[in-house]
Amino acid sequence: MHASDTAVLDEHAKRVASADAVLPPLTHPGSGSAPPLRVRDGLAFASRSKVAPGSMGSLWRPLVEYRLDVRIAGPDPASALDGLLCQWEDQLAEAVTYDEGYDWDTAAVVIRPSRDTTGTTTLLRRGFAPNRVLAVRLANRLGSGPPAVPGVRIRAAEESDLPTLVRMRSELHAYDAQFGVVTPRADAVERLTEDARAQLAEGRTVPPLWIAELYGRPLGFLEVELPPQSDWISGYVAADRVGYLSSLHVAEEARSSGVGSALAAHAHQLFDSEDVDAVLLHHALESPRSTPFWYANGYRPLWTSWYRRPAVS
Ligand SMILES: CC(C)(COP(=O)(O)OP(=O)(O)OC[C@H]1O[C@@H](n2cnc3c(N)ncnc32)[C@H](O)[C@@H]1OP(=O)(O)O)[C@@H](O)C(=O)NCCC(=O)NCCS
Repeated sequence: MHASDTAVLDEHAKRVASADAVLPPLTHPGSGSAPPLRVRDGLAFASRSKVAPGSMGSLWRPLVEYRLDVRIAGPDPASALDGLLCQWEDQLAEAVTYDEGYDWDTAAVVIRPSRDTTGTTTLLRRGFAPNRVLAVRLANRLGSGPPAVPGVRIRAAEESDLPTLVRMRSELHAYDAQFGVVTPRADAVERLTEDARAQLAEGRTVPPLWIAELYGRPLGFLEVELPPQSDWISGYVAADRVGYLSSLHVAEEARSSGVGSALAAHAHQLFDSEDVDAVLLHHALESPRSTPFWYANGYRPLWTSWYRRPAVS
């Protein structure tokens, strides 16, 4: 690290902390990673991550993601960001092979604290779109959704629910794939079936999968992760016990009538009874269904992932 790096890191950390008190203290990639990109008032850490074709992970993202973690400071942090993005473009132009570069299965990703809005225009100008949000709901937040619907019954999913779960999980995957990060895959149904079967067989004290029935018909499902299963995501928020709401879906014919809110209320009861301090979930910002729904149910944006897909345009 250069001496000037410390000043940038400190100033960046201070601005971010004052923008959002729920963010954890910022950590920086370790000494093993590539040297950072530098401009006068900024530095950035570039990395690349890959998931295998045919893996469960491949359903939710492009196979190859190039990521830039930025730290910006000074009197004009937006132009520091622009300088860093400009250097990264040069790196990407070299790193991304011709085949990969125009391939829908690559993306360039910049993840920013949602409330640190510095540099938003810069990202838009360089072809990035705010797509994926990691939203947070702190314990005991009140929602402002619809009142409970009589007739909705929520119960733990059983092995005999496998076909229903697979159908609804496939509907959710196809719906979310419209928004550009979740990706249609030929083997999606197979992967979703295997994963649901494995979760049903786990026998956890608090079941991860739940079904909403309206007058006996299964019309929605919920999937939750409690600590320690959710520990993989806990570093994104300043809270001790963190839960993760993996999925919530309501069949098209039953939407807008309170089934989703009943499932969300059930999830929040489960998290409360396990003393969870903050619940995190991912959703597509462009979704006209999930965005208003989560914000009416007590969530708010914490981290925003800006995507450019393919990585090189
Ligand atoms: C998002 C989703 C789960 C919401 O489920 P839902 O059962 O439709 O939601 P609810 O009926 O409980 O809540 C929405 C309704 O609450 C009502 N509502 C919202 N705020 C309200 C308020 N303040 N006062 C009174 N009523 C209110 C509205 O009727 C609203 O429907 P509308 O926006 O169509 O008018 C569902 O639309 C869905 O499955 N979408 C596709 C998959 C998806 O996006 N899942 C989330 C993935 S992250």
